[in-house]
Amino acid sequence: IPVQRIRNFSIIAHVDHGKSTLADRLLELTGAISQNTGQHQVLDSLQVERERGITVKAQTASIFHKYKGKLYLLNLIDTPGHVDFSNEVSRSLAACDGVILLVDACHGVQAQTVANYHLAKQRELAVVPVLNKIDIKHANPDRVCKDLQSLFGIDPATILKISAKLGTGVPEVLDRVIEAIPAPKVKRDSQFRALIFDSWFDKYRGALNLIYVLNGTLAQGQDIQSLATKKFYPVKSISVLRPAECHVSSLAAGQVGLIACNMRSSKESIIGDTIHLKNEQATAAGSYKPQQPLVFAGVFPVDQSKHVSLRSAIEKMVLNDSAVTVKVDSSPALGQGWRLGFLGLLHMEVFCQRLEQEHGAEPIITAPSVTYHVVLSNPKMIKQSGKDTLEISNAALFPDPINIKEYYEPLVLGTIITPTEYVGQIIGVCVERRGVQQSSINIDDSRILMKYILPLSEIILDFHDRLKSLSSGYASFSYEDYGYHETDLVRLDIHLNGRPVEELCRIVHTSKATGVARDMVHKLKDLIPKQMVQIAIQACVGSKVLARETIKAYRKDVTAKLYGGDVTRRMKLLRQQAEGKKKMRMFANVRVPHETFINVLKR
Ligand code: GTP
Repeated sequence: IPVQRIRNFSIIAHVDHGKSTLADRLLELTGAISQNTGQHQVLDSLQVERERGITVKAQTASIFHKYKGKLYLLNLIDTPGHVDFSNEVSRSLAACDGVILLVDACHGVQAQTVANYHLAKQRELAVVPVLNKIDIKHANPDRVCKDLQSLFGIDPATILKISAKLGTGVPEVLDRVIEAIPAPKVKRDSQFRALIFDSWFDKYRGALNLIYVLNGTLAQGQDIQSLATKKFYPVKSISVLRPAECHVSSLAAGQVGLIACNMRSSKESIIGDTIHLKNEQATAAGSYKPQQPLVFAGVFPVDQSKHVSLRSAIEKMVLNDSAVTVKVDSSPALGQGWRLGFLGLLHMEVFCQRLEQEHGAEPIITAPSVTYHVVLSNPKMIKQSGKDTLEISNAALFPDPINIKEYYEPLVLGTIITPTEYVGQIIGVCVERRGVQQSSINIDDSRILMKYILPLSEIILDFHDRLKSLSSGYASFSYEDYGYHETDLVRLDIHLNGRPVEELCRIVHTSKATGVARDMVHKLKDLIPKQMVQIAIQACVGSKVLARETIKAYRKDVTAKLYGGDVTRRMKLLRQQAEGKKKMRMFANVRVPHETFINVLKR
């Protein structure tokens, strides 16, 4: 098929606006899958995705469509659609010339719609606006069209109205894709060059790379070289996804396909990397840069006998998800484990859920944290670490403040869309989370779009849930990276009977230290059972105690069995009890039940 008759596009949409349903319809309509196979949403292949109804791993399908008597090749590149996954969206967009912007005609434009639209515009992609779910009675397509016009300047006359569920209007979507989206700007008569925009791991074939060919052609048996690592590999097999794998002998510029080339691990296939033929020169194919993990959490086995099996489960998972970073970690209370880095909280949840479902692991996940940057002031420490700035995601490793000159924390630019009646409460939450409003505009008379700069650490836990519950589910939220900015931080230590407990320490903003301190000691008081000794729970910053609670000891009456009588014996028993208490006090922190740590650490 000539380049002029190829179209590469994605569907971008807010979560649940019907992207997978539309993709299925497009596949059915073009005969790629048969109708009513009972297997709905073919593009969502992982179990977790089915359960949560969200798409995590981008997948792709090449389909054919006849338009004005000519056959066109359409490469539909599936994108995951959730607040956490903007990087997977942008990796998919790197292979596209246009997008279908799908909007639910009932719920209208949502935060992710706005974020995705801007991503597409930044990449100068053609946008095909489509309203979905017009079969629903209370759908309000006219209002949503107006919103699209006022927010993005989209001409309402160009907006298609469909029901992906019933198939109404779907054939027109295919025609519009061909009319509105340009053919790929690629050259076939030049040296081969391609972009790796996704990869996953296959037990038998190693890492598989999904590539978009920008120049030339690639044939089976040729040797390719990675621009990033300079390593080369023989191309063992090439296939296109329709959506099932379908072997082909070559791929030409403009096409999207899957190659297997003996890459042992997914660490070798770098998403965003350019591949070219062995010993040839090439320039980078895209400005695409892979995102760094934003959220870190400790993962530990419930008991150490499960260590080996958990390790192998994590290794297998990471093979398939190169965005996760892994470092060995250990803690006195939880033993040996790992510190994993994720793109966001949802990414972490899905990862852990898959660990449980697909590998039967039952890990303990510690409270997630972000990475802080601290600029050292102590020349000795600078010399020791070889640099003046440390990156710290584990509170236990936070240096003493006297050695620190400046603190930096990651911020995000959040987009919130909400019905006007909830604005007051939502602003309240944003302020409480140290948010700074950037802008606020009325989308129409009932909804508002606000932009806030927020510290990442304040939103990773439950911000999204708070917004949802405050607004009866109507507010939506999406965020993008906003870089590091100077801030004021302290390390909050928890002491049990005077001894610091490493697992419980946290990095908090100075203004929040007292509040968090009170909260933590209060929670611990409920969680730690009464013991033979009195337990003092203190939350401290340095040597300053910010909050304190005491758990009273049981007073076991050791003299109960003695009926009056011998006073010296009585005294001896009481003395022994006091000594016992002293010993216990020393070990008091160890006597904290295992689950207490877990329950405090767990969200
Ligand atoms: P993610 O994969 O999580 O991003 O969701 P999605 O955008 O792919 O949404 P999905 O296709 O899973 O659809 C979400 C829900 O909307 C499902 O319950 C669909 O059955 C329903 N749905 C999709 N399209 C239509 C439609 O045209 N009409 C109606 N009534 N329901 C629809």
